[in-house]
Amino acid sequence: MEINWEQLKVAAVAAMKSAYAPYSHFPVGAAALVDDGRIVSGCNVENASYGVGLCAECGLVGNLAMTGGGKLVAFYCVDGNSNILMPCGRCRQLLFEHSAEGMLLQTISGVKTIEQVLPDAFGPRELEEGFGADQRG
Ligand code: THU
Repeated sequence: MEINWEQLKVAAVAAMKSAYAPYSHFPVGAAALVDDGRIVSGCNVENASYGVGLCAECGLVGNLAMTGGGKLVAFYCVDGNSNILMPCGRCRQLLFEHSAEGMLLQTISGVKTIEQVLPDAFGPRELEEGFGADQRG
């Protein structure tokens, strides 16, 4: 699938402009290409109760589910200066859940796969193949 990184960056920057970040003053925008060709995006939404603030990726996966689901093929995240930003650890897990095989991320050290930024990840497959109640014997 053809990835237009410039288009993803434009979508991430547009999302960043909607950020609600009155506490950190650190707006973030994220955008991703879905396996059906659409683009989903999100911005961070902070809260007076600081710890419950939402990262941009939270909005993005909400947007993904709300607009038809699917798998993420490519991802781009920016800070308030439109520079590439690495997703935080929790958000790598959020992205992993919805990633297409070999999902690519634009990172501060070039394009990487989701497996490279979240090695040996825990995911849906572990629950399927894991030691659930009926496998314990
Ligand atoms: N932030 C994101 O939105 N995504 C990330 O992956 C990194 C951090 C936000 C959370 C908070 O609103 C602000 O950046 C400063 O931490």
